[in-house]
Amino acid sequence: MLHDDPYEIQGLRLTEIAEHFGTPLYLYDAEKMIRQVKKFNGAFQDLDVKIKYAMKSCANISVVKLMKLQGTGLDTVSVPEIRVGLQAGFKPNEIVFTPNVVSFDEICRAVEIGCAINIENLSNLEKFGARYGDSVSCCIRLNPHLITEVEKGDASGLDRFKINKEHYAEVDPERIGYWHNQSKFGISISQFDRLMEIVDRYRIRVNGIHIHSSHVILNSEVFLKGASIIFDIAQQFEHLDYLDFGGGISVPHKDTDPSIDLEKLGTAFQAVFEKFCRKYGKKLELWFEPGRYLVSEAGYLLVRVDVLKNNGPILFAGVNSGFNHLLRPMMYDAYHEIVNISNPAGDLKKYTVVGNLCEVDDLGKDRFLHEVREKDYLMIKNAGAYGFSMSSQYNSRFRPAEVMIINGRAEVIRKRETQEDLMRNQILIDDMGT
Ligand code: LLP
Repeated sequence: MLHDDPYEIQGLRLTEIAEHFGTPLYLYDAEKMIRQVKKFNGAFQDLDVKIKYAMKSCANISVVKLMKLQGTGLDTVSVPEIRVGLQAGFKPNEIVFTPNVVSFDEICRAVEIGCAINIENLSNLEKFGARYGDSVSCCIRLNPHLITEVEKGDASGLDRFKINKEHYAEVDPERIGYWHNQSKFGISISQFDRLMEIVDRYRIRVNGIHIHSSHVILNSEVFLKGASIIFDIAQQFEHLDYLDFGGGISVPHKDTDPSIDLEKLGTAFQAVFEKFCRKYGKKLELWFEPGRYLVSEAGYLLVRVDVLKNNGPILFAGVNSGFNHLLRPMMYDAYHEIVNISNPAGDLKKYTVVGNLCEVDDLGKDRFLHEVREKDYLMIKNAGAYGFSMSSQYNSRFRPAEVMIINGRAEVIRKRETQEDLMRNQILIDDMGT
C-alpha cells in the first residue's frame, strides 16, 4: 500500500482505528510530517535555512516533540506555547516569539526565557528600546502593504525607503490579499521613518527582518517579488543575523489546486538571496515559519455518520462532529476533501455533510461520496493544520482525542474530553439569593 493511501496509514486500517479509539478523532501520520520537513529542508539545502515550526497550526506536545527530533526550531505566539515548546525539549534560543498586539509584559517574559523576539508594533518597540536598549536583540516584523502604496499612487514613500517601485508594481494583487488586507499585522512600511527613529534613539540591535504572508506563497515568482522588497529594506539595518519569511506556504486541498514547487522556489531563491548577502556583506540565516506545509496533509478528522436525512432535494449526511472540531469550512469557506472510508466500493451520490451543532454547520457541500450509510466513517482530509488547535467546546461537546501513527503504532497523544473536563473551572454558585 502507498503511504498516502486514504484508507490506511503505515499499514493500519483507518476504519479499525476509528472503531478502536472512537470518533470524532484527530489522526496524524508522523511519517508524512517527517517527509514534509525533509522536503522543506531539501528545497533550500544550499542555504543556511532554519525551519521554525509554527506550532499554532497543531500544538500537541507530541507533534512539537516530533518537530524537535527532526531538527526544526519553533515559532510561538504566546508564553504558554513557549512553555509547551520547552517541555517538548526545545532550547529557549531555538524558539522565536512572534506574537500579535500582546502586552509588553508578555514580551519581557519571553526575553527572560531567552527566546528570539519578534516585534510587530511601534508601541512595543519603543518600550523594548526603553527597557533593553542594545542589550537584547530583536527582529522587526514589517508589513510591506504590497499593493496599497501603489494603488494610492503614493510612490513617494517608496523613494524614501529606497525601495524599488517596480517590486510593488509587478506584484499580482489577486495573489497577495493577505499582505494587503490583514493590516493589523506588522509595522507598516509607511511608518518606516518612525521605526528608524526609535531604533536609533535606543540603539536597538535589530538582528532580523520578518514578513509573513499567509496563503501568498503559491508560486515562486510572487514570493521572489515580496523578497526583493525585504532585501531593499534589510540593507538599512547593520546588525542583521537572519531574514525571516514567515509561513503561509500553501498546500493543495483538491486535486485541481495548484501546489507550490518548493524546489523550484528554493533554487530561484538561492541565487537572489546569495546576491543579497554579498551586497549586505554577511551570510545571513534564512528563516521560515511553516505550519500548514508541515502538518496539514498529515492530519485527518475521522467522524461517524449518525443521521441521513433529506430536506427537499438535498441529502444530508449528519456526523458526530461540526465546526466545534473543524472550524475552517465555516470560518473560511475552506474546502476539505471528505471520503467515505467504510464503503469504498459504493455508488457515488451527492451529499452535503453537516455537523451536529444547532446552527448552520456545513463541513462539505454537494460532495460526491461513495454511498453513505448510517454508522459509516468519513475521513476529512487536510485536518492537521488549524484543526484541533482551533476547536472548541461549543454546544458543550467534548473535544476529540488525538492519535499519532508513529513507527507503525497508533499512540493516543491527547485523550478525548469528558464531562469532567467540560466542568473543570466552572463554578456553581450555591446561593443565588432566591
Ligand atoms: N508565522 C506567522 C507570523 C503566522 O502568523 C502564521 C500563521 C504562520 C507563521 C504559519 O502560517 P502557515 O504556514 O501555517 O500558513 N487559522 C488559519 C490560518 C491563520 C494563520 C495565522 N498565522 C487557517 O486555518 O488557515
